[in-house]
Amino acid sequence: MLGNFTYSNPTRIHFGKDALDELPAELEKYGDRVLLVYGGGSIKKTGLYDKIVNILADCGKQVSEVAGVMPNPTVQKLYEGCKVAKNNDVDFILAVGGGSVCDYAKAVSVSANCDEDPWEKYFIKFDEPTCKIIPVGCVLTMVGTGSEMNGGSVITNHDSKLKIGHVFGEEVYPKFSILNPELTYTLPEYQMKAGFYDIMSHILEQYFSGSDDNTSDYIMEGLLNSLIHSSRIAVKDPTDYEARSNIMWVATMALNTLVAKGKSTDWEVHMIGQAVGAYTDATHGMTLSAVSMAYYRYIMPYGLDKFKRYAINVWNVDTDGKSDEEIADEGLSAMENWMKEIGLVMNLKELGVTEEMLEGIADSTLIMEGGYKVLNHKEIVDILKASM
Ligand code: NZQ
Ligand code: ZN
Repeated sequence: MLGNFTYSNPTRIHFGKDALDELPAELEKYGDRVLLVYGGGSIKKTGLYDKIVNILADCGKQVSEVAGVMPNPTVQKLYEGCKVAKNNDVDFILAVGGGSVCDYAKAVSVSANCDEDPWEKYFIKFDEPTCKIIPVGCVLTMVGTGSEMNGGSVITNHDSKLKIGHVFGEEVYPKFSILNPELTYTLPEYQMKAGFYDIMSHILEQYFSGSDDNTSDYIMEGLLNSLIHSSRIAVKDPTDYEARSNIMWVATMALNTLVAKGKSTDWEVHMIGQAVGAYTDATHGMTLSAVSMAYYRYIMPYGLDKFKRYAINVWNVDTDGKSDEEIADEGLSAMENWMKEIGLVMNLKELGVTEEMLEGIADSTLIMEGGYKVLNHKEIVDILKASM
């Protein structure tokens, strides 16, 4: 049952090869002092940095910068960004990069004018912003997180071995995002593939919750079919525009709250993956792929009907003469084969996890209640062991 909901998403999306042409008109809507935020240098190598700086100059903006936003941005980096934003009294933050840069820009936007410690306020107490929020816009260069059209912001604290996401409200969503699939062609293969699995996990963690006849599930099956089809093409030819553009749009729709409507949503794979990330700093999508098969095989009996539906509608499993368990199991095997085919990390060892870390990773894992089975500590340890 869909129940009652309000749906609104304030992010304006400019999509396609010419999407960057829309940037000047967007920038015009905000004040002159712009904070340009980017990662470790990929945008300088690709020439995108020069294009952006020229556009900002043509628009008469006074630009300050925070460079070197790392994958899995840290709380120390957040404090640095807050200082730069405050010292320059910025009116607008332009994020140019992947999910880490977009997440970071949102974190700075709610923290620069905040009198409290933002880590404590937003990522430990999950309080909502009470200070002035600096508007953010994104030019996306990596596909996967959905950060370009949502309020999510994930920050890592290496001292306390915690990687925590706060999902902020509409006022923190990017005001606009520029999505040009061609800007993602230069991604290293490993990052491209990690992004593919991040998308898959976002969809599955909403799909595998609830058991009713829900429009969101039908939309998600469509998104999954598109992702699986296009990922196979993109892995062979990363410059196939049709495949890369389809995947880019699937990623956005997977986590812009649309398909969560009427769903309780799970997110346990993300909680385990984030704890793995806090211990290893591994690439986000790969932390999810490494634990997914063990997780889904473990919870399958608790959501058997849905796993059967998944096998039939997404993996085209032939049902003739098979029990529900056999059908569901074949669906998961087909998923596992696809994961291996596109070249995802399938175990935790490859990410640098050791047996000694497993108890600590389980301790850092938040337990969620929206999926088919609420896990306890021992079950999380067992899933981690099975993922080694
Ligand atoms: O830093 P640079 O030099 O730019 O290099 C980046 C980085 O090393 C590189 N890259 C990005 N675009 C490129 C490129 N290299 C060449 N060409 C390009 N076009 O790719 C590397 C990874 O980038 P990153 O932004 O870290 O990846 P991703 O987009 O996967 O973001 C991961 C972060 O997002 C969080 C994750 O936890 C992680 O911290 N998430 C945010 C979510 C949200 N806001 O809703 C949800 C997700 O589940 C996720 O948790
Ligand atoms: Zn994710």
